Amino acid sequence: MKNPETLFMGQHIIHLSDIDSTNNFAANLIKQTKVVSGTVILADNQTAGRGQSGNQWHANPGENLTFSLILHPRILAKNQFIISKITCLALLDLLEENKLETKIKWPNDLLINQHKIAGILIENTLRGQNIESSIIGIGLNVNQNYFHENRATSLNLETGVIFDRVTLLHQFLKFMERWYLALERGDEIQIDQIYTQNLFGRNELRNYIRDGSEFEGKIKGVNRIGQLEMELVHGKTQYFDNQEIKFCFD
Ligand code: BTN
Repeated sequence: MKNPETLFMGQHIIHLSDIDSTNNFAANLIKQTKVVSGTVILADNQTAGRGQSGNQWHANPGENLTFSLILHPRILAKNQFIISKITCLALLDLLEENKLETKIKWPNDLLINQHKIAGILIENTLRGQNIESSIIGIGLNVNQNYFHENRATSLNLETGVIFDRVTLLHQFLKFMERWYLALERGDEIQIDQIYTQNLFGRNELRNYIRDGSEFEGKIKGVNRIGQLEMELVHGKTQYFDNQEIKFCFD
């Protein structure tokens, strides 16, 4: 399976029917052999899909997109959050191309009407101060129309249409390649601007929870190391690390 619309992104796709986790498969692959940048591991079914913070990622077999993309980005380890940003932007473009108004929930979830439609798990291998390889694991809810989790949705639930998963994958890879080339050109300011513009809760006074207590704040942006910049009610700016705060939804 080759992608006709890209130069290198998804020119090698390894399509598996069952695997524990495409991120695990990708990690073993890069340990064993040299892997071309842009290689994709796609699975119809994951038996032990992994989410962020040690959570599991559940997706009905054959109904969703679960895949990992292997890249060798030429960026410093300290700037690694930019990989999350471009991945979010490629998913945002994909969903918007399919007529879905999408927001990015910091750090890297995609939301439609405050319901999660996609999640990202990035695992980088470092060499000194550089990134040697990046495994970008993506779970996109496509045709699944029932979720045990609250606040989850899919393309099918939002539109009533059954989507072809491989077409969506190729669309995603086209957008991902554009953003990756933008990163290689050094367009970090543009990447940052568009990521920031599309953040859920940006410039809105909303409630968040930290250490069990609720507080109000306005999201302003995300800094180079991936911390969320928030303006608190008394005007003070505070930066939060991933997992430090929880979002409150309507
Ligand atoms: C999250 O939102 O918690 C991240 C979910 C990432 C899930 C994807 S599915 C493909 C890849 N393989 C995994 O085991 N996890 C990622």
